[in-house]
Amino acid sequence: MNNLLMEVENEIAVVTINRPKALNALNTETIVELNECLKDIEARDDIKVVILTGSGQKSFVAGADISEMVHQNPAEGRAFGLKAKEAFGRLENMRQVTIAAVNGFALGGGCEISMSCDFRVASDNAKFAQPETGLGIIPGFGGTQRLPRLVNKGIAKEMIYTCDMISAQRAYEIGLVNHVVSQDELIDFCKKIAAKIIDKGSYAVSIAKQAINMGLDMDLNNGLTLEANLFGLTMSTNDKKEGMTAFLEKRGRTLTDF
Ligand code: HXC
Repeated sequence: MNNLLMEVENEIAVVTINRPKALNALNTETIVELNECLKDIEARDDIKVVILTGSGQKSFVAGADISEMVHQNPAEGRAFGLKAKEAFGRLENMRQVTIAAVNGFALGGGCEISMSCDFRVASDNAKFAQPETGLGIIPGFGGTQRLPRLVNKGIAKEMIYTCDMISAQRAYEIGLVNHVVSQDELIDFCKKIAAKIIDKGSYAVSIAKQAINMGLDMDLNNGLTLEANLFGLTMSTNDKKEGMTAFLEKRGRTLTDF
């Protein structure tokens, strides 16, 4: 991998987008590498949570690579968007939990990749924006779709129409990030959340993720039916037997399904 770093410890993978000279901007090669890296992670039972971050102290991801996009014709632009759709969709729906550790600029494609993670934690110097309309394009890596689903429609529209950069604190206030911590604490803070998640039934967590993600694309009635079906499925697991028996026997539990 030319543009990604990965470290695995205690069932947590820290994946770092590593193009510091371009403030970790996403070119095609990086998007393809990310897709392959996530595919490999999906097949691994020893990784339960992925923390996605950017290299350096200044930028998470400063957007899609403008020096590449400047040459794209409409067909190439569409293909670029679809490559990201695949990689970001994998991030969004893979069985592992994904946390964006936003350590600086999260602009355009940077904000968009963070929104494909299950949730976001920001360092206090982080800045978010969708600057695309100022470049004469629109958010093409999910911004027009995921941002209004995450924050409200009016806030998403104002961000996309004005290109205004918002602070980490403002991102917290609008629900775009769950926590704001100092840059020094960021990765450890995310690892602590990851450890809490890993302590739970990993299979159950991945089924809950499916229920939430699929349910949000359905009407409430169908979403509730999906939930009942998936809830029923979890009744067949070893973790359910162990978790409930341990509770009734007033002893500690060991959950192992994934
Ligand atoms: C390519 C980028 C880049 C980007 C920064 N760089 N962002 N290269 N694509 N998105 C490069 C700069 O060209 C420069 O390279 C180096 O990184 C350092 O950046 P500077 O601008 O010198 O740093 P600074 O003055 O501190 O400003 C930081 C910044 C600014 C505010 C983040 O770089 C910036 O505005 N970047 C563009 C942000 C943006 O518009 N993102 C959205 C892109 S559109 P050199 O070689 O000169 O040192 C997008 C679309 C997604 O994401 C959907 C596509 C389908």
